[in-house]
Amino acid sequence: MKTVITAITSLISLSAFAASEDADVVLERLKHPAFVCVMGDPCSENLGKAPVAAAARTGDQVYLSACAACHTSGAAGAPKTGDAGAWGARMDQGLETLVKHAIDGYKAMPARGLCADCSDQEIADAVAYMIDGL
Ligand code: HEC
Repeated sequence: MKTVITAITSLISLSAFAASEDADVVLERLKHPAFVCVMGDPCSENLGKAPVAAAARTGDQVYLSACAACHTSGAAGAPKTGDAGAWGARMDQGLETLVKHAIDGYKAMPARGLCADCSDQEIADAVAYMIDGL
């Protein structure tokens, strides 16, 4: 008997607890995990808007993701990063020309090192990183 009473008491307190929750909160929590956001819903605020521009990457980040594959190994005749001998004559052209060649492409060097979403500034920073200290 005592068990039955305990069970009933806990049932009552459970339903009292549930009733105290805001129905909207409960509905929100019960939403199907594959809920689709449609225009007009409050969740659609950012639908169709351009994503917020990502913060610019630093020279070494761009270098590691876009340039290192060729410029660390010297693949296809790429001047190796930090190799004064490989960069000497190229450096004589001036930084501006080096950056221009990195952006536009130059002989076997593909435009932007194939980094389509790299900004001019990010490419310039990557070039500066490659020849830093030379
Ligand atoms: C697919 C290989 C490859 C990738 C990736 C690559 N490069 Fe190059 N890069 C080369 C080659 C090869 C050369 C040498 C071109 C030549 O003089 O024949 C070169 C040359 C350069 C030069 C010297 C240009 C000059 O005027 O002498 C710069 C600066 C440069 N790369 C910057 C970069 C930057 C910055 C990145 C990354 C955003 C990058 N490269 C990614 C292959 C690559």
